[in-house]
Amino acid sequence: MYWLVVWTAIVTWCEAASKFPDGFQFGTATSAYQVEGGWNASDKSPSIWDVYIHENPSAIADHSTGDVACDSYHLWKEDISLARTLQLNFYRFSISWPRLLPEGFSNNVSEDGTRYYNNLINGLLTVGIEPVVTLYHWDLPQNLQDLGGWTNSKIVDWFVAYSRVAFTLFGDRVKTWVTINEPTSFCNVGYETGILAPGITSPGIGEYLCAKNALLSHAKAYRLYEQEFKDKYKGQVGLTDQHVWYEPKTPFQEQNAQMARELGQLYTFPIFSDIGGWPPNIESIIARNSRAEKFSSSRLPVFTEEEKKLVKGSADFCGVNYYTSRLVEKACHQEQKTFWPLYGSPELDLAFSYNSTWLPRYNWLASYPPGIRRLLKSLTERYGNIEIKIFENGFGTSDASLNDTIRVQYIRDHLEQVLLSITEDGVNVTAYTAWALIDNFEWNSGFKPRFGIVHVDYNDPNLKRTPRASAYYYADVIKKREI
Ligand code: NOJ
Repeated sequence: MYWLVVWTAIVTWCEAASKFPDGFQFGTATSAYQVEGGWNASDKSPSIWDVYIHENPSAIADHSTGDVACDSYHLWKEDISLARTLQLNFYRFSISWPRLLPEGFSNNVSEDGTRYYNNLINGLLTVGIEPVVTLYHWDLPQNLQDLGGWTNSKIVDWFVAYSRVAFTLFGDRVKTWVTINEPTSFCNVGYETGILAPGITSPGIGEYLCAKNALLSHAKAYRLYEQEFKDKYKGQVGLTDQHVWYEPKTPFQEQNAQMARELGQLYTFPIFSDIGGWPPNIESIIARNSRAEKFSSSRLPVFTEEEKKLVKGSADFCGVNYYTSRLVEKACHQEQKTFWPLYGSPELDLAFSYNSTWLPRYNWLASYPPGIRRLLKSLTERYGNIEIKIFENGFGTSDASLNDTIRVQYIRDHLEQVLLSITEDGVNVTAYTAWALIDNFEWNSGFKPRFGIVHVDYNDPNLKRTPRASAYYYADVIKKREI
């Protein structure tokens, strides 16, 4: 009898340990420019991506454009039926700002854009899938870029006006809002190295102007929702950023790895720390570097006390996009041009690399599942019991095959680490999102990388969608709520 009780207890414990807690949500994601197409449909105006690509075809590896992409502008019903087959709890997509507001400003709201997003939202809800909506996934209206885009502090007002339109039109049905996707990526790669649209090369300046304006835009949109919509609609609002986990290359590099992690908190610390504002060490290093370079003030614009207060606490959850990790070492004497957050930090004089055992690897994406657990733990140690939603995780391949065992393994191994972070580390992570629902336009890499758990046949005029092995695997995880 005693052994039976012990055995039952062990079995129950093992089952509980491999099960995701009740309430944990599983979803997939895409973004407007990467899947919609319909770049000039109806009254939509060009985004920075439309203009950047049309003017610089060679900036994209396969010289492709997102003009048609997966044509989700027309094929949205198919995307919904895929999401339904997978029994997703939620589907994360983004609104194209220039589709909803063709002039960028809120004076003119597109009927066509409103209809398109209403259809998508209502269609998802009809089949029991929660729409999770990102307001900004990198496709700024070009006319706002002509006025400086994310480097002009007026963007805060423009973004808040756009958010108000979206909250008003869709807030009765959308309960989870992501204000801004990966500011780390679009500020650095769009305004520092100029590799992504809008292609501005302004290292050490452009990305920091963008950073401050993006944080203020997010925070003001959050406050707007809090004050005018929250009581009525009871939704959640937050930001999601790219998080890379940084390990020291040798034990002597621990301090440098810590500095890389600090810089990695540029958008998280101001929102979740008790003191608010930029991470202090980073703020002083950039101020010191700026003085040494004879600037009259820091290249990182300071926050006023009022701005710090506005940003502090401006999120109902911490959105995490995690794909990969890096090894950190001092970059002294290193000639190679580095860029944040994947290859190094000129500001901190650090170089990043990957461990050759972090496999599979595709391009910049070296798979290191323990990195996600360490990251989640460190966020919790630092900011307390905050709610974390993993809003992107996934693997790209050059192989378009349907039997994507590599992706199955990648998703499984990362889910396992997420589960451990819940059961062993007590992290309050409540959602996991596989990037992406379907293959799509991977920015300057074009259509070559396949990130979809569903294959898209770009040679088929109907852009036929076919679930891969990873889609079946993920559907099974969702159904059983275990790996
Ligand atoms: C993060 C970005 O949000 C998404 O747009 C991109 O496709 C994935 N990373 C994969 O690179």
